[in-house]
This record gives sequence, C-alpha cells and structure tokens, in this order.
Amino acid sequence: MTAAGLAQRLGIEHPLIQAPMAGSTPPALVAAVSNAGGLGSLGAGYLEPQAILDQAAQIRGLGDRPYAIGLFVLPDDFDVDMTAVAKAREQLDALMAREGLAVRTSLPTRWAPRFSDQFAALCEARPAVASFAFGLIDATQRQELRRREIFLIGTATTVAEARTWVDAGADAVCMQGAEAGGHRGTFLHDPADAMIGLFALLALARRALDIPLIAAGGIMDGAGVLAAEILGASASQLGTAFLTCPECSAAEVWKQDLLEAKEHQVATINSFSGRAARGLRNRFVEALPQALEGLPYPVLNALTAPLRRAAAAARRSDLLSEWCGQAAALVRPQPAAELVARLMYEYRLAKRALAS
Ligand SMILES: Cc1cc2nc3c(=O)[nH]c(=O)nc-3n(C[C@H](O)[C@H](O)[C@H](O)COP(=O)(O)O)c2cc1C
Repeated sequence: MTAAGLAQRLGIEHPLIQAPMAGSTPPALVAAVSNAGGLGSLGAGYLEPQAILDQAAQIRGLGDRPYAIGLFVLPDDFDVDMTAVAKAREQLDALMAREGLAVRTSLPTRWAPRFSDQFAALCEARPAVASFAFGLIDATQRQELRRREIFLIGTATTVAEARTWVDAGADAVCMQGAEAGGHRGTFLHDPADAMIGLFALLALARRALDIPLIAAGGIMDGAGVLAAEILGASASQLGTAFLTCPECSAAEVWKQDLLEAKEHQVATINSFSGRAARGLRNRFVEALPQALEGLPYPVLNALTAPLRRAAAAARRSDLLSEWCGQAAALVRPQPAAELVARLMYEYRLAKRALAS
C-alpha cells in the first residue's frame, strides 16, 4: 500500500505516527500530533483500564482527529518467584542507599494492569487505531476490534513475527528495527537474536509479505521518513524524536541527556524492567548490568518503578531509565505540531531533491 493509501485509510494527512510510549505520551502530546495531521498514539501499557478511558476522553476533548492506543500484550496471570523478588529488592535497596536516595522498593498490589481489562477499555474508548507489542492478540480480540472498525497494528522485530501478525489478522505491521528506542517488541525469539537493522528488516518484510508496513527505529527527520518509504514502508513511527517535545512527560533531565547522547552509549538494557529495551547506559545499568536474577518483565519493571520516579524527582538521570533510539542526539526540542510540520517539510524537500 502506498503512503498516501495508508494515510487515507487511517484518516490522517501525513505518513507519520508518533509512537505509543508508555509513561511518556500524555493526551496533550497525542492530540497535538493528531491535530497536526499525523497519528498520535497513547502508550497505555502501564495504565489501568479507568486511566485508559480517562486519557482517551481527554484526547477526544482536545480534537476529533484519529489517534491510536498502544498496549503491551501480557498474560493476565503468571507465577512470580518471590525468593528472586526478595533478593532483587535487597540489591535495589542497597543501590539506592549507596546512591543516597531515600526511596526503597515495596511490593506493589499488582505487577501490571491485567491485559484483558486494558483491552476491554481500549474497545470501549474506540480509537481509530490499536497497536500491540510483546505478543499477539487472539481471534476473539481480533473480532472485537473488527466489530468496532478499529485498525489493527501489530509490532514485529523479524519477518517471522510479522508473518504471525498477518495470520492473526493485522491490518498493518510495525517493523521495529534494532535502532529503536524503548522496549523490544520481540515475542518469538531471544531478543538478542532479533536485533535486525531497519534497512534489512524492511527489505526482507517487503519481499515476504503483502501487508502495509510501518517503519520504526532511528528515524529522526523527514529524509528518514522518505528513506523508509522508498524501502517499502507506508508510514514511519517515531518515538525518540517526540521525547523532547514540551508536551511529552519524560523527565526534564532525560530530555536534556538526549541532546548530548552518544550513539555508543545507547545500549540494550535489561536491568530496569527485566525485558530488553534500548536506552542510555548509565550508573544504574553499570551497577546492575544483568536483569536481576531471574526476574522477568513486568515484575522487575514494577519493582523499579518507584525508584525511577524518585530518581526523576531528584534529577538523578544516572539512575533513571532513559529510553531512546540510536539516533537520539538528533532530537529537536519544539512543540509537537511544529515538529510534525518540520518533518513533513523535510520529507517534501528530500522528495524534490531526489526527483531533480
Ligand atoms: C520512551 C519510549 C517508550 C516506548 N514505549 C512503547 C510502547 O509503550 N509501546 C510500543 O509499541 N512501543 C514503544 N516504544 C517503541 C516505539 O514504538 C518505536 O519502536 C521506537 O520509538 C522507534 O525508534 P525511535 O525511538 O528511534 O524512533 C517506545 C519507545 C520509546 C523511546
């Protein structure tokens, strides 16, 4: 499908999606991008169902443009190794004490919101687009989306994953290259094996699959959006580029650090959440280089959440999860609507330059 075709299908003007970024995409950001003609996405992976409904209502209150809600697909119930939890808490609390932060871990009432309840809230909110990472939705859930005419985007990090999304009835697949910031969407492979660069990934997926592709990973300007289109993508999904918008709720110290980020410091990190994610290697990561013994996502994520909040409040970016893609230093702090306009201006300029 052409970029114009997908934009038309989604009811947007530009082949540009602001990535769902759990914890960093408040309604003001989502609405600003959508109102500017892109597709704003609410990263709702950490939100309880009522918060999803509330934030969706806020987005609708700020404009009537199409927007997306993004969720992480997780099992509703899972076993937790409480011995490993106790050990991890000791390590984390000792680190906080050494670093002079008064905060300590505590046992949360729940490790993560229940996916099936989040999904029900998403259906009730009825955004134009629903996107999913970390796994597949089932046939009943697919039907629920179809009944409400919600466009389905699945996230894949390999062609094999993309194919399973095609089989699951996705309307488009977001191909997440190794460059991408934030959590890896990988669900069929060891994440270390699924670090495929976006150029390779798009070309492979284009040859193998007949479904609209969305490119994600390291795209920071309009030329990047055009490059992805030339390689077969119908739209580009940018996360890091939007992190320094004033509407984005990322901590100010995180935004500052992105400006100075060195690409060789942008690493794949397990230590904050128990799941591979790309971000800045810092003191926390150096102190706890491996995922704390046997603690998977979302358990470790829930344990470190209050520590990360305290680190942000104390402006301790060295103890904060500063997720970002490999081209983070190319961020351009400016209001989201201006960024969308700038990206599309650059896109048109690059297109003209190629044609001349
Ligand atoms: C801070 C941050 C949080 C993210 N959270 C999510 C998320 O909640 N859901 C999701 O599907 N992708 C998430 N991603 C990944 C993006 O969808 C996308 O793959 C990535 O941002 C693209 O790479 P880029 O950051 O270099 O633009 C996140 C990325 C970042 C930087």
